[in-house]
Amino acid sequence: MNLTQTPIGVFDSGAGGLSVLREIRVLMPDEDIVYFGDQGHVPYGPRPMGQIQDFSEGITRYLLSQNAKIVVVACNTASAAALKYLRDKFPDTQFVGMEPAVKPAAEKTQTGKVGVLATPATFQGALYASVVERFANGVELFQNTCNGLVQQIEMGNLDGDETQRILEDALHPMLDKNIDTVVLGCTHYPFVIPLIEKIVGEKVRVIDPAPAVARQVKRLLEAGGMRSRGGGRIRFITSGEAGSVQEVLSTLLGFDSGVESVRWLNDRTIAA
Ligand code: DGL
Repeated sequence: MNLTQTPIGVFDSGAGGLSVLREIRVLMPDEDIVYFGDQGHVPYGPRPMGQIQDFSEGITRYLLSQNAKIVVVACNTASAAALKYLRDKFPDTQFVGMEPAVKPAAEKTQTGKVGVLATPATFQGALYASVVERFANGVELFQNTCNGLVQQIEMGNLDGDETQRILEDALHPMLDKNIDTVVLGCTHYPFVIPLIEKIVGEKVRVIDPAPAVARQVKRLLEAGGMRSRGGGRIRFITSGEAGSVQEVLSTLLGFDSGVESVRWLNDRTIAA
């Protein structure tokens, strides 16, 4: 198969990975992308690791069946729970995953205090522990799981009362501790950056790792001779309800594309 003509596979528990897709698109508008949002199972954050691994395996298999030339795990939670598992299970596939951007935050903070927003599964995973151990370097980290925020973003509620309450509850105690940097450790959260910035003010830096992830995808494609010329077609696939995903797509990205709907047969298998 000519890999310059096959799509980049991207997945998330729902719409969060669109924040990564958006950056891939800016950097490589000529690439075809097949995006899978697992709205049938969102949120992943409170789920057991084993179940997230099963879902991630099923989605990877599905994306490969759609000829994905690389798989971007555009979900911190799935990366924390399943990236290693996926690499073991699919040794011939290249994966790009997410990790909370503790390294750039630790390099940039002046106060030595950094806030990290991510899901419970991300904080519990070995990946986060290893990032903290390698990069925190004496910097004090304040964590919050922003319970319910993923669901609000899935509903397209980017600045309503409930979204604001969740973010204020998370960020005010961190501001009291004098943080000057906030790491977005969940791919849904970049969609509420305007609200976060309103709450934390301009002296606090907000770090979204999506542009760096897009650059990594580009590097790997170039290194593997897989960069596309032409194309630029995007397919959106959901395990949820196509109509509501279409609406959120238009709210989050301003895209008016059609959405294809597929269904899970069991935790590891999507109907072809
Ligand atoms: N977008 C996700 C992440 O990056 C997952 C959120 C969830 O499903 O709980 O962690």
